[in-house]
Amino acid sequence: MLSKSPDRIAAMFNAIADRYDLLNHLLSAGIDRRWRARAVRALQLRGRERVLDVCTGTADLAIAIVRAQPGAAHVIGVDFAGAMLSVARKKLARERRRDRVALVRGDATRLPVATASVDAVTIAFGIRNVDRLDQACAEMRRVLKVGGRLAVLEFAVPALPVWRECYGWYVRHLVPRIGRVVSHDDGAYGYLPASIDAFATPDELVKILRQAGFVDVSTVRLTLGSVCLYVGRRGA
Ligand SMILES: C[S@@+](CC[C@H](N)C(=O)[O-])C[C@H]1O[C@@H](n2cnc3c(N)ncnc32)[C@H](O)[C@@H]1O
Repeated sequence: MLSKSPDRIAAMFNAIADRYDLLNHLLSAGIDRRWRARAVRALQLRGRERVLDVCTGTADLAIAIVRAQPGAAHVIGVDFAGAMLSVARKKLARERRRDRVALVRGDATRLPVATASVDAVTIAFGIRNVDRLDQACAEMRRVLKVGGRLAVLEFAVPALPVWRECYGWYVRHLVPRIGRVVSHDDGAYGYLPASIDAFATPDELVKILRQAGFVDVSTVRLTLGSVCLYVGRRGA
């Protein structure tokens, strides 16, 4: 079984932190920016919100959330990989966004945020890595105000047979090779296809989110279903 122990996952992201953004944009041919933009639109921001970005990594989504027009007033980015947060801090300084994005080291299963204190929660390409999925969903619900929006971006196995074959080949064979050469790390980009295969299907994740207390949960398939955007609201 695929190990998702917090120590292993944090060490893996710490090891590739310096090359993470480059590889993200390279391996997705830049489409990752569009996936995040789609998630930001789903939040329907009005300019005053306090948003929590769980598994913020190098803060690309957090930055997109404050850059949007209108964007959130403030974003808190939480991640347990210190090196990813260091890259995020440098980016925020370059972008002059340090006043609107706070970065906190913490675990998705024990969020360092007060109950019912944020207007929206996002998590992009992070939920697949979390060891205790139910606990992370319960935590995201806890910190959201009633009616607050949740947006989850995650890879999925495409349903369309031809695309599933092509994309599967790309993710299993090319991604680990390119990842190894660019990041000089053996494990991380081999873990990616294994973690996508082992993760909940879109229907299963919708069920998990509903069980955790989210309502109006819907799924938008992006890039022929290789990525899914899940949107919901915290129920009463
Ligand atoms: C694939 S990266 C995604 C980063 C960013 N959200 C993005 O869209 O590029 C996954 C991130 O989730 C973080 N992560 C995974 N499990 C976590 C957990 N249980 N608590 C906090 N961070 C976690 C990792 O450290 C890593 O930075």
